[in-house]
Amino acid sequence: MQPINFPNIQSLILYAYKDLHHATYLMLHIEHPDLFKQWLSDNVDNFTTSDCQAESTAINIAFTAPGLNKLNLSQHTYQQFSREFKEGIATTKRSQVLGDEASNSPEKWNWGGPSTPVIDVLLLCYADSDSALKAQISHITTEIEAYTTQLQELSTHSLFERKEHFGFKDGLSQPKIAGIHTNAKENNTLAPGELLLGQESGYGTTTPFPHDNENFKHFGKDGSYLVFRQLEQDVKGFWHYLDKQNTEEDNKVYLAAKMVGRWPNGAPISLFPTQEPDHLNPAIANDFNYSDDPQGNLCPMASHIRRTNPRATDLGLSNVKDNIASVNHHRIIRRGRPYGKPLHKHLSPTAMMKADDSEPRGLHFLCFNADLSRQFEFIQQTWVNNEKFNGLYNDLDPLLGTRPKEHDISGGDFTISQKPMRHKLKNIPQFVTTKGGAYFFMPSISALKQLANSNQ
Ligand code: HEM
Repeated sequence: MQPINFPNIQSLILYAYKDLHHATYLMLHIEHPDLFKQWLSDNVDNFTTSDCQAESTAINIAFTAPGLNKLNLSQHTYQQFSREFKEGIATTKRSQVLGDEASNSPEKWNWGGPSTPVIDVLLLCYADSDSALKAQISHITTEIEAYTTQLQELSTHSLFERKEHFGFKDGLSQPKIAGIHTNAKENNTLAPGELLLGQESGYGTTTPFPHDNENFKHFGKDGSYLVFRQLEQDVKGFWHYLDKQNTEEDNKVYLAAKMVGRWPNGAPISLFPTQEPDHLNPAIANDFNYSDDPQGNLCPMASHIRRTNPRATDLGLSNVKDNIASVNHHRIIRRGRPYGKPLHKHLSPTAMMKADDSEPRGLHFLCFNADLSRQFEFIQQTWVNNEKFNGLYNDLDPLLGTRPKEHDISGGDFTISQKPMRHKLKNIPQFVTTKGGAYFFMPSISALKQLANSNQ
């Protein structure tokens, strides 16, 4: 394994800035490439790198394919980027793969779609206070406003106990990376090339990446692809649907926990199948791998966390080790944050159902991976939006599934195969709608320097 070059890697790829509770994402269109390059050159040392702990603020930068082209990346180097990245997230082919159809379709997006302006650059700004974040953004926008147009300023909202808007603790399970995270469990440890370009992947090879050009040496190395999707959540719809299935509060929370695969406080239902424990002991938050639950009696096969990371679920391979190894070729590192005000401060389901508020809220879903098609897109297509996932018949991901046919709901079941009787929820509506999206590349510091100084 090659050593990890921490000072060359933008920090968000490796760390989530958990102590920086305030974040805003700026999407920019470059109007004057030469002036923007000058700004990049002057500021390249200001981007937060992985060799030091981010203190009160952090900033990182990523580019779309059009953005890289605008800054004169050589065609030779550009062509070595993956097809998915170059085509972008909003093509017809990608929409089919990702389930971005009907109400999710890019034509309807607020940004990143065919009828909205082309995004070139993404600036990701983080701070430990609202005032520090505002000061940071105001400083940057004053500097760059003469040569960029700001297309979006997407704010985020930290929710009670690090939960997402449906009311479930998020950010509990992430893969660990060899050479970066110590004391990680072997089953949950990925080769660095699953995250960083130019490193050895889980197959023992190097995923193709932009390299080897006179002016752009190893351009892709130590960078990573960043998926950004704005996913709007119908929180009231979610709890009203569950409430209609049963009237007692416990039951709607129980059904929701079965859908997620964890209780609201994050406790895995694989370990606590009938009742939420008072506290989640973080040491056991990931102490399960479904190998003792082949039928999904504890954690349903269709639940969100089981199908986005089936762990040791028997996917038809001969033993547990092979199943885990196979699943680990399709992992992502999540960096998303909620946006919009919560329906209720403590996210109590009953209070959220009663709240009278239709402001938009959801998740700015961000994730890193080295191979968009084998990692993020595979999860979305083969696991999330697959009605027949691992022996199921008509069950999409109960949180995310795209259900385009409003009157003939396909994939609208959720099967809870518990003993003594299997239970099925029917006609699940769509709770999450895609409102924007783009594929970015987050380059290394050395690649940023090459880009800033290119004059082809
Ligand atoms: C609004 C949309 C979404 C919501 C509300 C949501 C919610 C959650 C929650 C509550 C968890 C459990 C906490 C944890 O294990 O860290 C989770 C885990 C996870 N989610 Fe999502 N999620 C959303 C979108 C997505 C998307 C689009 C993907 C990928 C295509 C995804 C992939 C994952 C993965 C990989 C895990 C960890 C599974 C594991 O390792 O056990 N999620 N999500």
